[in-house]
Amino acid sequence: MCGIIGYVGKLSAKNEILAGLKMLEYRGYDSAGICCFEKGELKLIKKKGKVDTLIEVCKDKLKDVHCGIGHTRWATHGDPSDKNAHPFLSENNNVCIVHNGIIENFETLKGNLQKQGVRFRSETDSEVIAQLLQKSKCESELKKVQELSNMLVGSYAIAILFKGLENQIFAIRKNSPLIVGKSKDGYYLSSDVNALVDKTTEYHIMEEDEIVWIDNEDCYAFNKNLQAKEITYLPMNLSKQDISRGTFEHYMLKEIMQVPMAIKMTINECESIINPYNKLPKDLIRDVKHLTIIGCGTAFNAGMTAEHYARERDIIVECVYASEYRYRKFLSQENELCIFISQSGETADTIEALKIAKEHQIPTIVITNVSTSTINKLADYVIPTKAGPEIAVASTKAYNAQITALYNLMDYIYCVKNKINCRTCILKDKLYDVVNKLENYNFDKIDELSQLILENERVFFIGRGVDYATSQEASLKLKEISNIHSESLYAGELKHGTLALIDENTVVIVIATQKHLFDKTMNSIYEIKARGAKVVLVTQFDVQTDAIDMLISIPTTDQAIMAEISIYPMQMLAYKTAVLKGLDPDKPRNLAKSVTVE
Ligand code: AGP
Ligand code: GLU
Repeated sequence: MCGIIGYVGKLSAKNEILAGLKMLEYRGYDSAGICCFEKGELKLIKKKGKVDTLIEVCKDKLKDVHCGIGHTRWATHGDPSDKNAHPFLSENNNVCIVHNGIIENFETLKGNLQKQGVRFRSETDSEVIAQLLQKSKCESELKKVQELSNMLVGSYAIAILFKGLENQIFAIRKNSPLIVGKSKDGYYLSSDVNALVDKTTEYHIMEEDEIVWIDNEDCYAFNKNLQAKEITYLPMNLSKQDISRGTFEHYMLKEIMQVPMAIKMTINECESIINPYNKLPKDLIRDVKHLTIIGCGTAFNAGMTAEHYARERDIIVECVYASEYRYRKFLSQENELCIFISQSGETADTIEALKIAKEHQIPTIVITNVSTSTINKLADYVIPTKAGPEIAVASTKAYNAQITALYNLMDYIYCVKNKINCRTCILKDKLYDVVNKLENYNFDKIDELSQLILENERVFFIGRGVDYATSQEASLKLKEISNIHSESLYAGELKHGTLALIDENTVVIVIATQKHLFDKTMNSIYEIKARGAKVVLVTQFDVQTDAIDMLISIPTTDQAIMAEISIYPMQMLAYKTAVLKGLDPDKPRNLAKSVTVE
């Protein structure tokens, strides 16, 4: 959550920071702010609202500045307002900070500072950081930063400017990401690598508890005991094209169109010589008795599709939300293997759940889309998804890539357990066929369906077996970007209570791709129709019945992998409905792309 950017160098710090904030805006858009050294003073400008508002306010200001920090906020403590916007100056205006994360002990720290007479200007947890640094009696700024890190409890990525140390930025991180970018024109700090594309040739991912000190000339890193550390730089291998909207109206539309590519690239990864499955120890896989799949939101839903796929291959899987796994009583299972799924690899709940699994010596595999992410460093084994950068808050192409990777992984486990000499990707041909079918899919009917949804009051998605996982994902997509309340249910569960809500103002979208369950799902359809609701059926089967108001036909494939296809029109449905309502699908209300706080 929230984006941090910093710049020191030859170029205009204002331009570099504002451009960086635009790129980071998908991480939060409650407010934005910038602070630069101007004639030795810390000049602060911040505003509620999106980055464009800040750009407007900064128009004739900050003309000749070469060092500064910026922030785009996703509020956790204190409402989205000018006063709660970052950056924060200390009471005497000598220290300025931006923060990503949550300072869990801020009330205690704030209380102590208030007793010493410090006056606070905001309701945030973050402001306490600037005030603590101001109060510090340490002899050097580096020592002040070190002392600060020993006082804070929680998660943080922090960038700091000290008046008097012009053109220098200090940074520190714990449980929130921060990256240093190096270019011929200066140094950057950023919450993620996307903001550095086309700006830097190399970047360094800060490690936990690392302290960084950047000036015009160089970047120095220290561990928490202030011992100097070697900095490892990685080459920047993303291009502007990878992260731009191109000719698409929204990132989400571009990313839906990239779903086939995401599946294809993820299959190709398994086929390549760096096949990640070969790195999994055979004896570990052979002896596995209990698979636990852990993730949040869409990543969790991807896990649910694999649960069914695995069950068909006699592998028992339990799917658990990361936020639940963290706090439920831990029970040890014989030969357990935990699989964590995360597009960003930075989701706080998922990272903390992984740490718990590791504490209990459970082997861990992560399926992630960002190779440089925190979770990759922590896990024992990594299976990459190759969806490319996903910018829209609503996850689409990463979901399909996750499902693809999970199918491959389940096949691999099945083969090793049953001593079958499997090819790297058993499903390769079938999945290539799916790619081809999705590339040619016609979304024509989706406009009509979006209209139908807007004309009604309630939306339900139902399905049985794996179609329930698709219903969950379809419902989540619709809720998050179109702000329409919808619910997803097992088709057979409707009659146990929720049927009471079904009337002529309800749309029920039924996902039915499994032949052996089809007749049973039809029974649910008749029950719904009898209560006057509009029924929309998403299926590959040829159906002739008056009980259906709209048929969304989808192409067919092996029914075990139909989830790759059935979600496709539903992703577009969420997108089109949001656009029809006049909403920005890329920046849904109250949400942000990567949830790095609890
Ligand atoms: C997806 O549309 C959501 N924005 C959200 O549920 C997301 O999938 C979840 O926060 C997990 O993110 P991750 O995959 O980056 O861990
Ligand atoms: N906790 C801080 C705030 O509410 C930072 C939030 C974030 O990291 O998104 O301002």
